[in-house]
Amino acid sequence: MDKPVLGLGLESSCDETAAAVVRDGRTVLSNIISSQVDLHRDYYGVVPEIASRAHLETINLLIERALRGAGISFGDLDYVAATSRPGLIGSLMIALQSAKVISYTMEIPLVPVNHLEAHLYAPFLEGRELFFPWIGLLVSGGNTALYHVRGVGDMDVIGRTVDDAAGEAFDKIAKYMELGYPGGPVIEKLALGAEGKGVLFPKILPEPGDTRFSYSGIKTAVINYLKMNPGADPAAVVHGFQERVLELLVRRAFAAARERGIRSLVVAGGVAANGRLRRMLAEEARAGEEVIVASPGLCTDNAAMVAGIGYHYFASGKTASLDADVHARV
Ligand code: KG4
Repeated sequence: MDKPVLGLGLESSCDETAAAVVRDGRTVLSNIISSQVDLHRDYYGVVPEIASRAHLETINLLIERALRGAGISFGDLDYVAATSRPGLIGSLMIALQSAKVISYTMEIPLVPVNHLEAHLYAPFLEGRELFFPWIGLLVSGGNTALYHVRGVGDMDVIGRTVDDAAGEAFDKIAKYMELGYPGGPVIEKLALGAEGKGVLFPKILPEPGDTRFSYSGIKTAVINYLKMNPGADPAAVVHGFQERVLELLVRRAFAAARERGIRSLVVAGGVAANGRLRRMLAEEARAGEEVIVASPGLCTDNAAMVAGIGYHYFASGKTASLDADVHARV
């Protein structure tokens, strides 16, 4: 039997520092995540300077824990992968620089990874063979976009948000209503208490054939409603808001897949952890169509997805030199 390939993944693009070891691009041996949510909570959003300092303080410890958790040492690694784009520049630098040091000292290939592609890879770390093509719906705090994915590194954008990302809309409404941070999980939980009695906000209905997303309108509708109805039940308000945000995601994703005759939809990113979204996707799927979503723990930022997609670049020789750089945008 061939020797297994062991990869270390590092992630620090936003407010999670993470390190993971993955075997053969599919088996997660360790997956260590340090969330900075508590550091940013008072600001209701990520403060870049605080984020990069916290990444710097924690990353070495996380790398040690990831290696120990996998029962291996630096000398066992075959490659090191790190998110290099998109994200906060000061934050991205911490994982990529750490990866460069490991690559240089251990003489193993460096694989810079696109964070968005890594998110879409997460469901393939749970036993499913990687296959193509599929439609990828990426919904996180910084991105909301639909992709036609044909292979590793081969994906076209079908549509993306013209204003807020879906997760950002959750975070902003939670901030406005003083519900807590991050907004997605608190809104999901609160909305459960208003099943069947949510506020009916207008449907988000852009032109037929439009592939874009837009969330500033629903955000304004909610804020105006709260101004006009100061005594409104918060659970009913967030329930109505959540329905509208999620139904646009579901409608757009299935329309893109059906127009192209594609029967598989991969959904990833922090918002994909939302149970209501997962149910809506399952309900909308027709016979022969499949929705592939990672378990909630792999939907939010992690380094296993980085090591996982990194394996495929490593295996096809697409590695980088030590002058690889970070990029704020894709
Ligand atoms: O992918 P992620 O961890 O980080 C990036 O943005 O890259 O996603 C975080 C986003 C936040 O906006 C958060 O509010 C949202 O995902 N989120 C959720 C849920 N869990 C996290 N949104 C809706 N429902 C959830 N259960």
